Amino acid sequence: MHQEPTSAINASTRYCAVYGWPIRHSASPAMQNAGLASLGLDWRYLAFEVHPDLLGEALAGARAMKFIGLNLTVPHKLLAVNRVDLLDDSARLWGAVNTVRFEGRLPSGAWRPLGELDPSAALEIRSQGFNTDAEAITRSLEEDLGLRLEGLAAVVLGAGGAGRVAALKLAAEGASRLWLVNRTAEKAATVAREINHLYPSVKTQLGYPAEAVDLILNATSLGLKASDALPLDEAVFPLPRARTVYDMIYRPAETPLLAKARQAGCQAANGLGMLLYQGARALEIWTGRPAPIDIMRKALKENVYGHV
Ligand code: ATR
Repeated sequence: MHQEPTSAINASTRYCAVYGWPIRHSASPAMQNAGLASLGLDWRYLAFEVHPDLLGEALAGARAMKFIGLNLTVPHKLLAVNRVDLLDDSARLWGAVNTVRFEGRLPSGAWRPLGELDPSAALEIRSQGFNTDAEAITRSLEEDLGLRLEGLAAVVLGAGGAGRVAALKLAAEGASRLWLVNRTAEKAATVAREINHLYPSVKTQLGYPAEAVDLILNATSLGLKASDALPLDEAVFPLPRARTVYDMIYRPAETPLLAKARQAGCQAANGLGMLLYQGARALEIWTGRPAPIDIMRKALKENVYGHV
């Protein structure tokens, strides 16, 4: 059962939204609206298909309409870094913005989150960019796969926006060996150089290992479509060599990679936990209150699996 908002939309209802291109697959509205309702807020969370060329206009529109905040997904996370008024340390560190909070200036000069204000009290509105993805990756790996990140040996598939943050975050959390695999090898090499510079004690290599690893993490988009090839070259790296497999994709809930991983005896998890924790943290950034994690997880599972 979905948790329905407590009141009908009216002239004082406030809004959050997610922007993406495409966006129709998103489970965020189901998850966030359940969270908002359980906090008793007369807010709604919407989803908009925003072309990357129009991100600036879409951000300006949300600000003009006094939205509380936004989530940004593919392909906006990197573009937004230069389009918000200021960056939180998390966005600066990871070089990507997946959460925007609008903030209002009070007559005292202080800036407050718009969600904590009567919107008419704001003399001026600014946007602040955050990144809640990196923390969500490691929290989900720890909780869903029971992994200990210190000393981890992992293969990261993909070196786009998601793969780069995942590899850097694993390095930051004390992984000891990382193997980076990407169709465009130069992108993996760039990420490896970044890790070598920031975390020189992490042994980072390109391509597949000859040895067994604790984790294979898929951060490519392969698996979203039924016709996609496997993101892993099994001829070079057989799945039984991995203790656990994590796929950032959550729809379909079981990608061919996860199905094969389970058949091979690996512990496997999809990206539902990552979506949950990045969204829960975003809700906290907008509301200033602890997120109702269990309610958000339940709504997400209903949306993705059709049952809890
Ligand atoms: P995201 O922000 O989700 O990471 P992205 O930056 O576009 O999105 O990255 C997509 C990832 O999936 C990249 O690693 C991409 O490989 P390239 O860097 O070579 O483009 C990978 N990917 C997408 N389609 C692929 C395909 N058909 N075969 C192999 N890798 C693919």
